Amino acid sequence: MDRFRIRGGRPLSGTITIGGAKNAALPLMAAGLLTDDRLVLTNVPRLADIVTMRALLMQHGIAVEPTDNNAASLSIGGAITNTEAPYDIVRKMRASILVLGPLVARTGEARVSLPGGCAIGARPVDLHLKGLEQMGAAISLDGGYITATAPHGLTGATIVFPFPSVGATENLLMAAALANGQTILANAAREPEITDLADCLVAMGARITGIGSDRLTIEGVKSLHGATHPIIADRIETGSYACAAAITGGTLHLKGGRLDHLGAVARTLREAGVEMTAEADGLTVKRLNGLHGIDFITEPYPGFPTDMQAQLMALMCVADGASMITENIFEDRFGHHAELNRMGANIKVHGASAIVRGKPGGLQGAPVMASDLRASFGLILAGLVATGETTVNRVYHLDRGYESAEQKLSAVGANIERVS
Ligand code: EPZ
Repeated sequence: MDRFRIRGGRPLSGTITIGGAKNAALPLMAAGLLTDDRLVLTNVPRLADIVTMRALLMQHGIAVEPTDNNAASLSIGGAITNTEAPYDIVRKMRASILVLGPLVARTGEARVSLPGGCAIGARPVDLHLKGLEQMGAAISLDGGYITATAPHGLTGATIVFPFPSVGATENLLMAAALANGQTILANAAREPEITDLADCLVAMGARITGIGSDRLTIEGVKSLHGATHPIIADRIETGSYACAAAITGGTLHLKGGRLDHLGAVARTLREAGVEMTAEADGLTVKRLNGLHGIDFITEPYPGFPTDMQAQLMALMCVADGASMITENIFEDRFGHHAELNRMGANIKVHGASAIVRGKPGGLQGAPVMASDLRASFGLILAGLVATGETTVNRVYHLDRGYESAEQKLSAVGANIERVS
């Protein structure tokens, strides 16, 4: 198992290129099931999760091939020959559940392994299943698998989410595109990745209005055709490297990043003493003076994203003053706090809230263990500012969502290397 060895203390400076968004690429690849025509995705990030989704689509009978030599573009097409998503793939990546809606909408059946929980919570999929039932699918659970059938196709319905679930919105948006009649998704999630998916579906011939809002109206069509779609920049990768500039007291230019997708993160970082300014080709992040502690809560978009919580917690460990962090989205997403405390941080967790008593220069290097994708980056951030050497174990978590992280950080001055 690979690990990262980091020696902290260097302010980072230079340019980091931001890749395509993992959490847009995964649903967009699943959308390839909605037509036999070729869907070409460009600006595809090279990540472990993309490889997993490619394997999943290929075992459904779909061809998923790079269109040029650097695999930054994928061509997805072909007929579905198998409607089962097996446990050994789904357990590796929960986003596999996103093939459920497209398979049922396209073929009238699907047998998808229930995704297990993961390090950040139970992560049920009840909202996905209830929505499909409202659209006329018969759902049964047996042997750890979801069986969904709709032999006469899906019927449009009005679905009101009790919580704006990202995955449920994406699954049902894709299913509704080919349903008979009108579907309304109310209290839908509004993340930029959902807007990106909706834009791609429209390019494929879907009829969707309300894009970007929490109320999506979809008029089902008989079939969709191919398209070519560029994947939006990854706002979480952008925010993560913004924190690398902030924690090391450096200045980074994030090429391709979109400040307009980082509203709540930018506001929070500005409050902590970090400046983020939009440029023609991205944004620049610069720490002004010292960092000061701030309070924030994670919320559905456009609120502060839960996928940035671990990174901000690491930053607050070396801020001057206390910070109160409340995690409203996942029930168990503070796993990284214990590892940060092993590096000298002072963090107390009470239920959904954590209090961080920050101390400039307060972190010392140590061997630490990554528990999930975003926690891994939080520990790297801590290592970049800690005195001495930090070893981050289990970086396979990181490789799921950050392309070439050690190369990108070394190129702007970090002392970091991957050790197999
Ligand atoms: C997506 O997960 C992202 N993953 C997550 O990013 C992200 O943290 C999350 O949205 C929130 O923004 C992808 O896009 C592939 P949810 P998803 O459905 O769709 C509960 C990362 O690090 N819920 O909005 O699973 C659920 O338990 C990953 O890139 C139900 O109760 O998120 C959670 O508490 C981590 N029933 C909350 O809603 C359901 O049917 C948010 O889940 C569905 C969700």
